Amino acid sequence: MEEIVLEINKLKKEKNAVILAHYYQDPKIQDIADFIGDSLALAKAAQKVSEEVIIFCGVHFMAETAKILNPDKVVVIPDLKAGCSLAESAPPDKFKEWVDNHPNHVIISYINCTAQIKAMSDIICTSSNAEKIIRSVPEDKPICFAPDRYLGSYLIKKTGRQMVLWNGSCEVHETFSEKELISLQRKYPNALVLAHPECPENILHYADYIGSTSGIIKFATENSNKEFIIATEEGIIHQLKKLNPDKIFYPLPSINGCLCNQCPHMRLNTLEKVLSALEKLEPQIHLDEEIRLRALRPLEKMLELS
Ligand code: 13P
Ligand code: SF4
Repeated sequence: MEEIVLEINKLKKEKNAVILAHYYQDPKIQDIADFIGDSLALAKAAQKVSEEVIIFCGVHFMAETAKILNPDKVVVIPDLKAGCSLAESAPPDKFKEWVDNHPNHVIISYINCTAQIKAMSDIICTSSNAEKIIRSVPEDKPICFAPDRYLGSYLIKKTGRQMVLWNGSCEVHETFSEKELISLQRKYPNALVLAHPECPENILHYADYIGSTSGIIKFATENSNKEFIIATEEGIIHQLKKLNPDKIFYPLPSINGCLCNQCPHMRLNTLEKVLSALEKLEPQIHLDEEIRLRALRPLEKMLELS
């Protein structure tokens, strides 16, 4: 085993730490994690950990969610700059104005948002439970959905509920190329297309299955088909291959063939930074207690419904 991995495992025991990681992390990080999951599974796992320290290998809003749920634990993120274009698309002052301009609306926010945005929301959702959360709102109640306009549009179609949408998007899913998708389908006519609902409609249109990262993994693992085109961040391919060594997965390229199907924020975390996070227990997530308590309410509502 690599020396750095041995060191990480040793420090993990010494510091009474657990490593949680998202499927979009570098494969080397996925392989040292104690738990890997999608946003919902990670939020649930964070609720249950018994260790004193959580090393959260994901982006800032995910580590912040772990801190909202675990105020007494030390929550460390390997790189504090690991942000998210969706979370950044909703500045708190503009969001407050939007909420104020829509009185009587139920504010549903996708978990990819900051604690301040969560604090102004009525309920949180993830890509795993969004449909269920929307259907839980009484029919006569108008809904505002933030911050992903593509996920929002997909949910309007799926549930038939009209919603006012915030104009945010994921820079990774937005950049997938329809042209490349058509050419992959021509080359591999037996491949099924599995897509994340953060993709725009012109990509979702071709999908045989649309779901969260864990939904995509479950579908590919249970389906008897042998080939799949994957329209989400390519880190997920590592788990797909591990669980299905006999199947072939084609990552969907982005426009211009750039490496944009790797999330630049997720990929800021490295094994070296995980080691340093364990050594120093820094950088930590800190939250204002008033914001934390306000953000906790809609998050707990989601967890009750999930
Ligand atoms: P999941 O909840 O499906 O893992 O999605 C997280 C995310 O950031 C997608 O870009
Ligand atoms: Fe945010 Fe997109 Fe990266 Fe997910 S893939 S963390 S939504 S920028």
